[in-house]
Amino acid sequence: MQASENVRDRVDDYISRGVRGFWTPVATSVQLKTGKPLARKIMGENLVMWRDGAGKVRCVEDFCPHRGAKLSLGNVQDGNIACWYHGVTVDGTGTVVRVPAMPDCALEGRKALTSYECAEAGGAVFLYMPSADRPEAPAFVPPVELTSDEWQVFPCMTNWDCSYRFSLDNAADPMHASYLHASSFTLAYGSKQDTMKLEKREHGFQIERVSQQGVNFDYTEVVMEEGMMYFRLDIPYPDGAGPGGPFRIVGFATPIDEHTHHSFFWRCRNVQGVSAESWRFLYRAFLEDRHWHVLEQDRTMLESIPDDARRREMLYQHDIGVSRLRQMLVRRAKEHFKALDAQDAAGKQSA
Ligand code: FES
Ligand SMILES: [Fe+2]
Repeated sequence: MQASENVRDRVDDYISRGVRGFWTPVATSVQLKTGKPLARKIMGENLVMWRDGAGKVRCVEDFCPHRGAKLSLGNVQDGNIACWYHGVTVDGTGTVVRVPAMPDCALEGRKALTSYECAEAGGAVFLYMPSADRPEAPAFVPPVELTSDEWQVFPCMTNWDCSYRFSLDNAADPMHASYLHASSFTLAYGSKQDTMKLEKREHGFQIERVSQQGVNFDYTEVVMEEGMMYFRLDIPYPDGAGPGGPFRIVGFATPIDEHTHHSFFWRCRNVQGVSAESWRFLYRAFLEDRHWHVLEQDRTMLESIPDDARRREMLYQHDIGVSRLRQMLVRRAKEHFKALDAQDAAGKQSA
């Protein structure tokens, strides 16, 4: 195998497992309201989350420092997590705070587990998974729709049996709506032919149809900032769908492992006051089911794609957004490996 192929495979494998160095949503806030621990696998890592005494979400490896049982099977005690097996208790920094079966045990005070930064916005919990080049969490700056009073948002999370890369590709491909969603309530309009154009943005790019705007899902903005990667798209709404202009989706794809992911998105509308109330009612009563139906169409299609489809794809002009997005991921992957290799070299020198 050529050296360049080795590098390409290394980068591709890393991207498939999950590009690190971003805040990524991992649960809805409601899922952590119960006082119970919550297990999550993110980018192949088994993690446990819970709320500490101040209500802040904490996250450490889901591994008891004593003999490795899953901490997520235990319970929350005084803001810490206690293993069910022998009661060893760990705090949100991954430090053993109590070994109840053995007074003055030497394990107490030992930092035993990796901990992860968490933050909340828009009804969801975000976690920072560090990369070699970005070991410290950058400032948590979620998409504006999640924090502004102007927007009403519904957080939604679903698990799809395919790589997160397919969800990102899907978002960077507005043209699919005219085919895959042709029978749906909001996506049945407009022309079935077009060319696509791509505009660079300060953080990422916008991909849009050349001859159609404001008719169907006609554009996607892909954002890759220092600490966040997500997409934003608008779906024009017919008059019967209430106040507030287009229906906006802000979406993330969070890898569980190479083969599965959480598709995480917010359904947003720019409505305030009484209009906000009527929109929330309309959404819950009539529109939510239809939206899940549309999403099932995406899921069916993406789950049908083999993991290694990239090796045989034949892209055409409409895939310029897909290509650009992949280039951006490769760039971030290379930054990670550059830092990793520098650390390895420094380690060897000092050894
Ligand atoms: S394995 Fe967790 S307390 Fe023993
Ligand atoms: Fe879709």
